[in-house]
Amino acid sequence: MPHDVTLIATVAVGFVLAFVFGYFASRFHLPPLVGYLVAGVVIGVGMNVLALSSSAVRAGFASGFTADAAMAGQLAEIGVMLLMFGVGLHFSLRDLMAVRRIAIPGAFLQIILATVVGAVLAKVFGWTWGAGLVLGLSLSVASTVVVLKALEARNGVETPSGRMTVGWLIVEDLAMVLALVLLPAFAGSLGGHVPAAGPDHGSDAGLAMTLLHTGLKVGTFVALVMFFGPRVMPWLLRQVARTGSRELFTLCVLSVAIGIAFVSAKLFGVSYALGAFFAGVILSESELSHKAAENSLPLQDAFAVLFFVSVGMLFNPAILVQQPLMVFAVLLLIVVGKPLISLGIVLAFGYPLSTGLLAAASLAQVGEFSFILAGLGITYHLLPPEGLSVILAGALLSIALNPLVFGLADRINVYVRGNARLFNRLEGERSGPQRALQAELERVKQEQYERSLARKRFTPEELVSQFPLFADLTPEQRELLLLHFETREAQPGDRLIRAGEKADLAYFIAQGEVEVSPRAHEQKIKLQAGAFFGEMALLSGERRSADVTALDYSKFLTLSARDFRLFLGKYPFLRQQIAAKAAERGEMNIRASRPPMPGGTSSTSPTSPAT
Ligand code: CMP
Repeated sequence: MPHDVTLIATVAVGFVLAFVFGYFASRFHLPPLVGYLVAGVVIGVGMNVLALSSSAVRAGFASGFTADAAMAGQLAEIGVMLLMFGVGLHFSLRDLMAVRRIAIPGAFLQIILATVVGAVLAKVFGWTWGAGLVLGLSLSVASTVVVLKALEARNGVETPSGRMTVGWLIVEDLAMVLALVLLPAFAGSLGGHVPAAGPDHGSDAGLAMTLLHTGLKVGTFVALVMFFGPRVMPWLLRQVARTGSRELFTLCVLSVAIGIAFVSAKLFGVSYALGAFFAGVILSESELSHKAAENSLPLQDAFAVLFFVSVGMLFNPAILVQQPLMVFAVLLLIVVGKPLISLGIVLAFGYPLSTGLLAAASLAQVGEFSFILAGLGITYHLLPPEGLSVILAGALLSIALNPLVFGLADRINVYVRGNARLFNRLEGERSGPQRALQAELERVKQEQYERSLARKRFTPEELVSQFPLFADLTPEQRELLLLHFETREAQPGDRLIRAGEKADLAYFIAQGEVEVSPRAHEQKIKLQAGAFFGEMALLSGERRSADVTALDYSKFLTLSARDFRLFLGKYPFLRQQIAAKAAERGEMNIRASRPPMPGGTSSTSPTSPAT
């Protein structure tokens, strides 16, 4: 074939093998992720074999495959971006705050302790302190993907212990993002090589400048994104959602994720991972975020697979023979040392054993951040190349062993439960902090529930049962209409519309009651949930014909003048019904404004809900 098909070949080989090995991994009750990593290892070994065979080199196979490795690296980078975007999308500061008392100190203590042990280990193997730092940091952070998958499998994400573990992980992830940003700044002083164009890190002044520079860049980026993001993104998503095109919506979500990640890396020198994480955080503020998450999930999954494959490709199995002791020591640190450290911290904070065991088992592996950090360590010549292989071996083995670690934790739990005295000491007497955590989580949940009620968006079914007016719209049309609605609340006595003003909104009463006082006469009309008002001036182009005041705690769906006209233009039967109601009300006002009825009519005369 004359044209270059490297990309296609990379994606095809990567996906097919990942699928095959992932499938078998899951048949053996291992996370599919192990299969993806193994697929990568197989491809990597295959490449090496081809590269060694001189005839293959002549035939051009090997060079073709070398290009694959570089390409796979870039595809993997996209995977990391989407992964971090997903983490950001699900990140909730409130959730984190609920578990902060244990998650923040726990994560930091664990990182510090694990890093120290890792660094000492590296020193024992004759590496520099710089290499030790990178190794220690890499081993101190667990894979969010693996933990979430493990917790999901045991229905544990929503339990207090599960929430605590996830919070702990998020703190770890954030700390790693910080490490990724700071590592280049410190590379020089840790004994690494900084690429020629890089700033001078040798002297203290140089280091201070670099730190300041990095801090400023990251600060500017975060400030810009946090300031403009919540103002622009929800608006943008709504506009795109209104087009009714799902692919445009997905495209918009992806462009935001990858666009922000790319621009942040180019302009601010912030890592792709951090950029994508913040893109996710911003979008999570929008009420359309779950739709965004849903749409980007398949791509996230696909590219994450390529990420794990490419990590496997980098792995050199020879390391198991060359450095068996080192691999064993690293594995021991991940599978035994780290869990013991986390268990100790959780127990020291007064939580029950079962909570500690869940955290310990969850954290007994390393994943994506370790590879990224190790990769950066190699770029800056801090970590010797075999360091990455050792970390990869540790990651591969620890992820594969993770189900066993969970099994062991379960056994310990069962044993303790079977022993009344032990149970009392390790669970019963330690239930205080756990209960406090549970209460805090309940409170956050309640708050979230109330907030979501306050800005509750109707489902298309609710819309129709509440407003039969919309019954003739198709489900898609209802959905689109819902996107145009804003919600507005009012307290008893709030004036919603003032007679004589210019018209801006049409109101649909979702809850509560309002009182209409037309300018033309003294009668007051009550409208209840299901009715609408504010349509007359919008239709006629004249000023408001009445005062409208809320009588109790009310909730409305409102349509802007523009959207109101747009909709009536699109659906003539709606226009007809609404215009008929407006005409009826207009006539009533004219009639009522004629000679006053004998006996006075200024009393309130309720009307049935207009539709
Ligand atoms: P608009 O004139 O835009 O603003 C005031 C609203 O009060 C008006 O639209 C109608 O929706 C409502 N309104 C006015 N007169 C009556 C009436 N007689 N009965 C019910 N609603 C009315």
